Amino acid sequence: MSSRLHAHVGTLRQLEILLAVHDHGSISGAAKALFLTQPTVSVQMRKLADAIGSPLYKISNRELTFTDEGLELLKTAVEVLDSFSRLDRTLGTMRSVKSGTLRLAVVTTSQYFIPHLLGPFCERFPDIDVQMKVGNRQKTIERLKQGVDDFYVFSHPPSDIETDSIEFLDNPLVAIAYKGHPLAKRKNLTLKNLREEPFLMREQGSGTRHAIEEFLRTQDQQLNIKMTMESNEAIKHSVMSKLGISILSAHTLTYGGKSGLTQLDVRDLPIHAHWFFVWSRSKRQTQIAAEFLQYVKSEGHNMLHRELVRNGIESEVLLGN
Ligand code: PGA
Repeated sequence: MSSRLHAHVGTLRQLEILLAVHDHGSISGAAKALFLTQPTVSVQMRKLADAIGSPLYKISNRELTFTDEGLELLKTAVEVLDSFSRLDRTLGTMRSVKSGTLRLAVVTTSQYFIPHLLGPFCERFPDIDVQMKVGNRQKTIERLKQGVDDFYVFSHPPSDIETDSIEFLDNPLVAIAYKGHPLAKRKNLTLKNLREEPFLMREQGSGTRHAIEEFLRTQDQQLNIKMTMESNEAIKHSVMSKLGISILSAHTLTYGGKSGLTQLDVRDLPIHAHWFFVWSRSKRQTQIAAEFLQYVKSEGHNMLHRELVRNGIESEVLLGN
């Protein structure tokens, strides 16, 4: 590539030489730094000046001063060379993170989006292994205490364990009923209205249950819990089959998961929660883990959006509008 001459900015090699001339303030200094002869540097700079159609610098009293055009080209040279160094670093990282295992422990409800975040990451690092444990909040807290996984995903991280975390996504919890339920036609329902219906609750240890219980405490309300189930999908199907109503994360309703169900219009809902990536402060991060965290922070949201759209998933429910 470096031998190809661009009509107006010269070759990459010429830009490198230009930068060296500027850094060292002389042709001889640049030649020395680049292990070239002085005539080579001069010839290359003359060719570069011809390419942009203007002198790059003037030398008077043995002092080299850049022209305005030379300084302008210098700015572009820095940008171009910086981009290539960035590319070098990225490729270097991609090569060094070729293999290894990324260990995740995530709460059940996050299974609706975590795989879509992992997809593009694994495409970038095809030789890595991923181990993903899915459990309810309590089980995931136990794994966090054991400290073997690189990252944990919670919407209600425990407050009594020393961790670092980043907030990643909203997690609105909404009330659902079967399509055609009498409450579905009504607007502005209250929690008292919900209490008239049998309620299907997640099991003890579930983060969803934890969020609902906290919320009810702050509202000084109760629900009429008739059944307890260990799975969002089991609750959804039970709600469809008219066994009762429930409150679940809106994430459970994506990807056609809302068929047979309707969201109730309740005054104090949704419960506003958020998803967090959490990691133990005491565990040394592997290179893959560090790379994954960087990916989540810098481009996770966009990647997730792209994947959800590609898969026809209602991304506005998951990511907001
Ligand atoms: P869960 O967790 O899947 O254990 O209910 C969800 C959450 O933490 O909100």
